[in-house]
Amino acid sequence: MKVHRYDKAFLIVGGVLLVGCLFALLYASVGMGIHLPGRHATIDPQAVHTTPPFDNPGVRQLPDGRVEAVVVGQIWSFVPAEIRLPLGKEIVFTVTSADVIHGFHIDGTRVNMMMIPGQISRNTYTFRRPGEYLLVCHEYCGAAHHTMAGKVIVE
Ligand code: CUA
Repeated sequence: MKVHRYDKAFLIVGGVLLVGCLFALLYASVGMGIHLPGRHATIDPQAVHTTPPFDNPGVRQLPDGRVEAVVVGQIWSFVPAEIRLPLGKEIVFTVTSADVIHGFHIDGTRVNMMMIPGQISRNTYTFRRPGEYLLVCHEYCGAAHHTMAGKVIVE
């Protein structure tokens, strides 16, 4: 079978791109540790405010030396609305929603999750730069969606 040389070139370019993208994906997940936020566990969406740890949202020290930030999303606020976190320590964000689907995105970081009723979402992040970060809801959640914001203070 005779393969036209343009066909051949096209196949080679396609193959190189495919392998290149695969390596980029591997590098991002293994090398840089970027993962999709996982569905960590489920929760009764009617009982968020009485189910630990969401009955007492906020920042706490974990036994393994990490810091956990427990946050509830609800129409139209984050609880707590102001989160103080230490610099350079691994933070575990554990979030859920008490009503509809909300978003949990910390501006300028890769912390970007959905807050889903009935589901506990979890993601980790280490802040390398002190300062104030904007926490925004990026899922349309009703009339005052655009006002749903919080503050993350890293010090
Ligand atoms: Cu909550 Cu948009």
